[in-house]
Order: sequence, then C-alpha cells, then structure tokens
Amino acid sequence: LDAGVGRLPVLGYNTWNAFQCNIDEDLMLNTARLMKSLGLQKAGYEYVNIDDCYSEKNRTSDGYIIEDQVRFKGGMKKLTTAIHKLGFKTGIYSDAGWFTCAGYPGSYGNEDRDIKTFQDWGFTYLKYDNCAIPYDIITQEGIVGRYQRMADAIAKLAKKSKKTPFLYSLCNWGWSQVWIWGKTQGQSWRTTGDISPAWASLANIINFNSFLTQATDFYGRNDLDMLQLGNGNLTFDEAKSHFTAWALMKSPLLIGTDLTKITDETLEILTNREILAINQDPVIGTSISPFRWGFNPDWTYDPLRPAEYWSGPSGKGTVIMMLNVADEPAFMTFNLTESPWLRAGRRYSVRDLWAHTDNGTVIRNITVEAVPAHGVVALLLNDAGSEPKGLEPLCSVL
Ligand code: DGJ
Repeated sequence: LDAGVGRLPVLGYNTWNAFQCNIDEDLMLNTARLMKSLGLQKAGYEYVNIDDCYSEKNRTSDGYIIEDQVRFKGGMKKLTTAIHKLGFKTGIYSDAGWFTCAGYPGSYGNEDRDIKTFQDWGFTYLKYDNCAIPYDIITQEGIVGRYQRMADAIAKLAKKSKKTPFLYSLCNWGWSQVWIWGKTQGQSWRTTGDISPAWASLANIINFNSFLTQATDFYGRNDLDMLQLGNGNLTFDEAKSHFTAWALMKSPLLIGTDLTKITDETLEILTNREILAINQDPVIGTSISPFRWGFNPDWTYDPLRPAEYWSGPSGKGTVIMMLNVADEPAFMTFNLTESPWLRAGRRYSVRDLWAHTDNGTVIRNITVEAVPAHGVVALLLNDAGSEPKGLEPLCSVL
C-alpha cells in the first residue's frame, strides 16, 4: 500500500529471535547504541523494534495498554526519545486478536485507541500478530477484516494527527493467502510460520516464497521473517545464503541476534553493501525469481531443496543467485538464456557481490566449479556488447 511510507524493505532490528520475552528498556537502548557503534546504522539499518511482551498483562481500568512497570519503568516515550536521538526510528508490536501470542493484551476491538497510544509513545511502525483471534463463526469477519480494522485505524489516525501513517507489517503467517491482499492494507506481510536458526527452516521458507515472488514490489512485499544470522548453528555459508536470499527477494531485513555477542563474520555478512544495495534498489522494487529448480536423484519433491537458479532485474544490472541446496559442494552451471533477463548472442560483464570483484565477461554460460554445501553465489551481470564473431551458432537449423 502506498501511503507514503515503506517504499523500500525495512532495515532494522527486532528483539524476538534473540530474546523472546526477556526484554527491557536497557536492552533496547543498548541495542540501538550497538547498532551505531558496530556500523550497522551506517550500513542502512534504521529501525529498532520491540516485539511481544513489553506491556502489563492487563489494560488499565479505563482500557489502555501500558508498558511493563518494572521492565520499562522509565516509560515508552522516554525510551523512544532516547533511541530517536541516536538517529533511529522505532517499531512496536500488537495482535489482531484478544491476546498476543505470549498472553499480553491484543488490539482486537481497541484498534483506534491502541494505535493512538503507540503514536503517543513515539512509534511509527507496527508489527501486527495473529494469536488469540475471535471465532469467525460469531464475528463473520475473517482474517482480512481483522487486519483491515487496524489498517483503517492507522489511516484515520494519520489523517487526524496530520502525521505520516504507521508502517504496517502484517504478521499473519501466510494465512488466507495474504500475498494476494496484503498490499491493500500494509507494506509487508509474513508468508510463513516462525523461522528457526536451522537450514531446514531457511530452506522451507525459501521454497515456499519461491512460488510467491510476483507479489513483491515497492510499498508491499513478502516478509520472509526476521533474520537468524548469528543464532543457532548456522554455518558461515548458510548465513550468507540466508542473507542473500532474503535481501534479493526484497524481504524486510530485521537483525535478530544478540549484538553484544555478534561475531565479525556475522557483521561482515549483514553489512555487505553490494547485497544491501540490491535490497534497497530505488529503481526496481521486484524480487528475483527462480528460473530453474533442482531435483532429487529419485525425482521426488522435497521442500528442503528449494529453487537453485534465480535471476531478476535491478537498477544496476541483472541479478543472479545460485543456491546450492545440496548437503555437499556442487558444480553449478547454467546457460545465460535460461534466465528471462539475459539475451542470446550477448556478452556480459560479471560482478561478484560476495567477493567484490569484477570477473571479466562471459558468453553463453556461467559455471562455478564448487559452490559450498548450502552456499550461495550472487552476481550482477551487465551487457558488454555482442559476443565475438565466428562462434558456433547457438542453435543450428537442420
Ligand atoms: C509469532 C510471530 O510470528 C513471531 O514473529 C513473534 O512475534 C511471536 N509471535 C511473538 O509472540
């Protein structure tokens, strides 16, 4: 939805993956400080977002959500002001049902009141979850209706307060085919259940979203869920694949690891400027799409083996992603014309977005001898003229 916010994917931080309910105001402020000192802000990460568990379990007697009086004893307003002073924007969380997933008050029936509270607290971004929803048999409202209530409340408040509308992040886990209607309400929508820091989870999410890439564009995009880089036992190559796939599919990129413990390797991945530049491409808002899926030796379908060969346009050239979904290193190769974005009979310059090198030019095909297990190759190709004369024709006419 083009309401004047969220044209490009959100870059920022969210507490859930690393901390779940163990959050407080010190953590939020420290996280913002670390985003700055670690160079993440400079790389473009601009939101610091709170997830579930920040409020009291009950509303006040006159019906308002209040912040946890111990863990957020200074008050949300003071906290967001301090975070804004560091140059960040702030995001908050609520739920389209009676309660959040962790049992805190949800906003169903209180949409106008709560979004006003969040605005008064200084937030400009809302993640809206999907737990404890009323029985549709009584409300006859459905999931679209419950999310529409908050979309309406956001629009109404923006008009009344003459402020920019909240950025609205729908978190309904792909229910009711949200990729079809999400863009009429908000700027991003979760397409799957919760991510976990394991290759199987990443592969499943990539696989599911590989069929939905057409839904993504400026002001509205599939949300592949928050990043797990730095968590669990992801290998360096898995973390690179995770970041690359999320970025090039134009997902929001919300860091979800404990920044006091972040390694140089994880930081290096998160601050890859060439990959981030594609995610934040101001010219083309669409996602890369697969042009070839892999297959199991026995031809069975396996969601742990998502598409391997992807491409798409960008303001800087044609983006290529090669993903090795196998558990061992793989020889990977494709003919340029398999991608709908590359033309026959042309030569292309190749930029490697991970090695940060210009690798000369190619004609007809690209081959990488050994892509590591669960590893990735990300390239930027640009037309460099016609291919040399005197080559065998691409197809011979019999
Ligand atoms: C479910 C969501 O999908 C998660 O991202 C997180 O917000 C939790 N709920 C919080 O309870």
